Amino acid sequence: MSNRRVAPGPPFRWLDMQTVREFAGNPLDFVDRMVREYGPVVRLRLGIQPALLVAAPALVHEILVTKHHSFAKEPRAKRIIRDMAGAGTIASEGDIWFRHRRIIQKGFAPERMENYAEVIVEHATRRVTKWADGATIDVTAEMAAMSLEIVAKSMLGIELTGRAASIHEHANNLSQAALEEFAAIAPLPDWLPIPSKRRKRASFRALEQLIQSVIDQRRQSETDHGDMLSILLSATDESPDGQLLTDRQAIDETLTLLHAGYDSTAAALAWTWYLLARHPEWAAAARDEADHVLGTRPAKLSDLDALETCQQIVKETLRLYPPAWMMMVRHAVENVTIGDFDVARGTWIYLSPWATHRSERYFPAPLTFDPDRFSAERIDEIPEHAYFPFGLGPHRCVGERLAMVEMILTLATVSQQCRLHLVDEHQRVDVELHTAIRPQGRLPMRMETHRK
Ligand code: HEM
Repeated sequence: MSNRRVAPGPPFRWLDMQTVREFAGNPLDFVDRMVREYGPVVRLRLGIQPALLVAAPALVHEILVTKHHSFAKEPRAKRIIRDMAGAGTIASEGDIWFRHRRIIQKGFAPERMENYAEVIVEHATRRVTKWADGATIDVTAEMAAMSLEIVAKSMLGIELTGRAASIHEHANNLSQAALEEFAAIAPLPDWLPIPSKRRKRASFRALEQLIQSVIDQRRQSETDHGDMLSILLSATDESPDGQLLTDRQAIDETLTLLHAGYDSTAAALAWTWYLLARHPEWAAAARDEADHVLGTRPAKLSDLDALETCQQIVKETLRLYPPAWMMMVRHAVENVTIGDFDVARGTWIYLSPWATHRSERYFPAPLTFDPDRFSAERIDEIPEHAYFPFGLGPHRCVGERLAMVEMILTLATVSQQCRLHLVDEHQRVDVELHTAIRPQGRLPMRMETHRK
């Protein structure tokens, strides 16, 4: 290896348990503090494991795009995700990942998006018309139930109405278990007969059975239901023998899409309502735009480009509260150089959109909610690759378009009909770290209708 710069970081210790404790104790504060104290590339030692925290956009790009072959998903992170969401695309790599990703991409083709947009607007409208004028609603729970219903309908073709809460609980148990395993130095094996492991096994089984029952019904006919499952069940694996996906593979991919598809989107929408309540001028701008573009008719996919303000609000929300705050954990599979730094084989790499998006090196007044940053006039001020809520490179989020369509059309649909106010204007809303970051606890908001 060449004699390049060694990244700065906390004083070196052979066995650094203090860094492990600080990181696990409050990861968001930890990454913020590290980048503030040491700069955008920080050398860490987690116990005896060497690691790098990388917030510099050019280096994030090198790791995820130009030199992605030198980095793989970190095996422990992959196993934890597999236990939560099955052995689907997020937890796989190599040939299997490549083949399955190509299949899933077909499920997000433009002609499918029309159908998904209708599902989104229908569910958003159904939900907002349920809220009575003056009523208090828990926005976090409402957005979770709505997003889950949307993903269940668009991916699996099933209506969850009335069942969303129990499915959400199972998904939540699994993401809670994943979170605890990420934080643990040595996670306990799953077969242990203790309550948390029993809960985890039961929740995994419940979701698996739900999906298996839908697959069983579907295997009896060859109708295309316009959803992702139809693609998965009719797709031939693109290997030379052209196999159909097995039930196991279809279950795993569907479980992955269910988890990945609702939690992050729901969290981002909850933050959107919170930020708009704090910034009424932007809530008014969203309503004006919805009135102007939609009038009283339902939104459709083709309105997306005209809903510029809604787009800017969503993008700025994802900058301040990137749901996948630190999902991009990699490890170096060979000795490699990024920027000026040598990275030894085996080093863990942490990439955190939270740290990059909130650094004043890349975003002036980073903690200010300013959707105008994403206006056509100012967007070029954002440094290249400094904004990556959906990741970059070959593993970039496959559901990005669905998530953006869901957030923008929901924002327009709700703004068309009502305003949401914080019940307690001075309520301090903390961040809860889950697999996505979301508002901690309940987020009670009062609904004020302006339905015509
Ligand atoms: C606001 C919403 C969302 C955010 C912020 C988000 C974020 C991300 C990020 C950062 C990655 C890259 C992880 C990495 O490189 O290790 C990713 C991957 C992925 N996301 Fe999303 N996501 C969102 C919504 C969705 C939706 C709606 C779906 C599907 C219904 C989805 C499915 C996936 C899948 C399958 C992958 C794995 C892609 C691969 O490895 O090839 N996501 N997502």
